[in-house]
Amino acid sequence: MKIGFSTFKFSKKLYLNDEVHPEGKAVLITGCDSGFGHLAAKRFDAEGFRIFACCLFPSGEGALELQKTCSKKLKVLELNVTSDDSVKKVLKSVEESLGNDVLWALVNNAGMTSGFTVELSPMQAFQDCLEVNAIGPIRVTKAFLPLLRKSRGRVVNVTSLTGRQSFPFMSPYIISKHASAAFNDCLRTEMDMWGIRVISVEPDCFKTYLLSEERVDEEFETLMATLDDNLKSEYGQVYLQKFKAIKRQTYAAASPKIDLVVDSIHSAVTDEFPEITYSPRGSRFLMVVHYVFQKLCYSLQDMIVRTLMYVLGLRK
Ligand SMILES: NC(=O)c1ccc[n+]([C@@H]2O[C@H](COP(=O)([O-])OP(=O)(O)OC[C@H]3O[C@@H](n4cnc5c(N)ncnc54)[C@H](OP(=O)(O)O)[C@@H]3O)[C@@H](O)[C@H]2O)c1
Repeated sequence: MKIGFSTFKFSKKLYLNDEVHPEGKAVLITGCDSGFGHLAAKRFDAEGFRIFACCLFPSGEGALELQKTCSKKLKVLELNVTSDDSVKKVLKSVEESLGNDVLWALVNNAGMTSGFTVELSPMQAFQDCLEVNAIGPIRVTKAFLPLLRKSRGRVVNVTSLTGRQSFPFMSPYIISKHASAAFNDCLRTEMDMWGIRVISVEPDCFKTYLLSEERVDEEFETLMATLDDNLKSEYGQVYLQKFKAIKRQTYAAASPKIDLVVDSIHSAVTDEFPEITYSPRGSRFLMVVHYVFQKLCYSLQDMIVRTLMYVLGLRK
């Protein structure tokens, strides 16, 4: 069975690797201020796609850079994925400017992270992550499905490895990414009858602002300023400082090969016969570790995490 599947994948790579032609096709990408979305917008623009580059801050550095360096075909639009009004305005603007072009792909890329463990994260962190990472893509997709139905186009959801596998210490983010992966899977089977492909891109750890050490510092400062005194003394300063240091080290080890993710987004949009999921991995070592880990039963997984916490000094 496995050999048959591998042979099929190999033959597909060899013979079914055509790409769609950019002419007359528009791609809308959310979260183009920075990171993957920003780079993907530039790449699609350079290839001749018409780009609606949605930015949270249209007068910010990222948006201005896109306007300066890309062609006139790229249009920067203000979009906050948590606001119905903002999505409506973008839809109107896209409908008015499409002309004879079609909306070929919607790339739900905007995302954010907030919080630590379940107990150490304020409710606001769960709400923010769910609003941006889970509800946001649903809101935007529902608005643009009629245009995608006309083009028999694609929805590409940038979810995450953490949407399939849970790890401790980023709980609000991970919960929201599980929801976005489930949204992707529901939509994929539901839209099949309309010829709309739904594809997820599931990166592991890459060095963008999302996983920057400065973000850990900012968040930790807020945590210390707002954390309940009882909890602070239960956990203790030593534990909390160690916890912060380990989170910083983990983020510092994220892969700088951001282009791997942009390649996957590109393939999801342009491959004539796309995969159902793309899984860009920053390091081969982590890829193997994760492959083995996810094959284990929960009790073995828990035992490994428990041992790791012990080694890192994060056990009480
Ligand atoms: N980096 C990784 O290792 C990694 C791994 C797995 C999945 N991902 C996912 O990849 C996607 C892109 O992240 P990234 O790593 O490129 O980080 P990033 O540079 O922080 O990009 C996230 C983008 O989303 C925008 N954004 C945040 N809140 C928004 C809102 N309410 N409405 C519209 N846009 C909003 C941000 O705008 P501002 O910059 O203006 O805040 C930013 O442009 C996210 O969905 C993320 O969860 C990242």
